[in-house]
Amino acid sequence: MEHDFAYYQKSADYVKSKIDFQPELAIILGTALGGLADEIENPVIIPYAEIPNFLVSTAPSHAGKLILGRLAGKNVICMSGRFHYYEGYSFEQLSVPVRLFKNLGVQHLILTNAAGAVNKSYHPGDIMIITDHINLMGASPMRGKNLPEFGNRFFDVSSMYDPALRKIAWDCATGSGLTIHEGVYYYFSGPQFETPAEIRAVRVLGADAVGMSTVTESLTAAHCGIPVLAFSVLTNMAAGVLDKPVGGDEVEETAQKVAVLFRAYIKRIVQSI
Ligand code: 6GU
Repeated sequence: MEHDFAYYQKSADYVKSKIDFQPELAIILGTALGGLADEIENPVIIPYAEIPNFLVSTAPSHAGKLILGRLAGKNVICMSGRFHYYEGYSFEQLSVPVRLFKNLGVQHLILTNAAGAVNKSYHPGDIMIITDHINLMGASPMRGKNLPEFGNRFFDVSSMYDPALRKIAWDCATGSGLTIHEGVYYYFSGPQFETPAEIRAVRVLGADAVGMSTVTESLTAAHCGIPVLAFSVLTNMAAGVLDKPVGGDEVEETAQKVAVLFRAYIKRIVQSI
């Protein structure tokens, strides 16, 4: 599973052959945000399965697609259906989508996810702007041979969640109707939710929310120099906070409830970037 730069270029060449504009901003749509893709004007839709050297979806029923077009005055590329480690992909494979964005000339990346609240002052339905993450998996999407066309072997991740983009996100928060926090996202590989003991442990370590995505994408972006803005929709309290099981329909249901406001909020941000 060691690919050279040309391997990634092949995916980009295919996508470029389908569009007559250059996407400047990429958005990976998490659980709460799927509907945003419907608002893209003059969309060019490319199923993942058509793209050479792209990842193959493990869930054929919702196979996933790229949607390219105009949103809030910008040329965008959206990924509807993301890839997770718990599906069986390696961290290295999970670099593929963001490297495609890089080769298309994307300059900003917005990531969204559904996450559990570790911080007891948060409530389901609140939004967290990710300021930083903790990934103690001992894994990196950049493991293996370095491709200098993308970035350096060793790379700085101390401000990967770009402060200037976070400022824009705060400026757009007023009047959004959403309760917005900023905090630290703790990555767990899943697919099980965490134990109450794990949640108590990561709270001590500085976690405000937990989730199973996003970090491979943001690390890949940091390596190739794309500034990231990332959001968690807090769909539920993490294990042990409330006297009830985690998950069930709550994740989907809470995400649905804030989806309309969150979509409008993201559009305002896209316009302001
Ligand atoms: Cl509690 N944990 C993780 N890892 N992901 C989640 C979650 C919890 N709630 C929504 N997504």
